[in-house]
Amino acid sequence: MSQPEQIQALKALRDWWAEMGVDADEAEIRALTKAARTSVGPAAPPQTARRPRAIPKEKRHEDWVEEARNLARAAATMADLKAAIEGFDGCLLKEAARNAACYDGVEGAPVMVIGEGPGAEEDKQGKPFVGRAGQLLDRMLAAIGLSRATNVFITNVNYWRPPGNRNPTDDELALCRPFVDRMVEIGQPKLIIAAGGVSAKSLLNASIGIMKLRGTEQMLETPGGYSAPLFPIFHPAFLLRRPEEKSRAWRDLLQIQERLEGLS
Ligand code: URA
Repeated sequence: MSQPEQIQALKALRDWWAEMGVDADEAEIRALTKAARTSVGPAAPPQTARRPRAIPKEKRHEDWVEEARNLARAAATMADLKAAIEGFDGCLLKEAARNAACYDGVEGAPVMVIGEGPGAEEDKQGKPFVGRAGQLLDRMLAAIGLSRATNVFITNVNYWRPPGNRNPTDDELALCRPFVDRMVEIGQPKLIIAAGGVSAKSLLNASIGIMKLRGTEQMLETPGGYSAPLFPIFHPAFLLRRPEEKSRAWRDLLQIQERLEGLS
């Protein structure tokens, strides 16, 4: 199929889904259309008299991580960091996302919550934890006197919504990591809450899962030399699916509350 035919076919598929009442994932369709536009079409007829055009070299993953590091290092404020993340083109997830969900809450707050990554609602609003899971997170925080309006800063280990809400890959997490570390260095939280296994494992470089990590106190150390205690908790989306786990989540919240009181 030629490129225009592929694009036409994708548009027809989307329209057909819409007619059938299927909720098409617009972001995914946009990404597929873009991929079709940039994919290599059928071989062009040989051009005998001309030299082949130089094909620009793709930037390697490690180069993008290095660029993320440089951008993050140069950021002095959260606003700088947000601008750097939004301008960063190294993560392919950005192609399909509507917005980067960078952060919400109070800059410089004593508590920083770090989640996994945006879902549909976060993608739409460009803010972390604003969907159903976010509402539960707000209630969990409120139960121990915390709120994004007064004493909590909220972010994620990945800023762009993965298609179909899959988990971010290790490469995608590595591309965001310099920004996450810098956010911790700028925000200087007294205590960090890692919401969910993806966040906890990635922040701690751990191979054990959330079932073993929750209820334990860990330490996050950034490359710039800032360190803070980190508490992994169950992800609120998990608790929505498994309400019977709320009692263990409650215990973890009480442990966090007690630790925070000791820090102030
Ligand atoms: N889940 C997360 O981990 N982060 C969000 O921002 C939303 C849902």
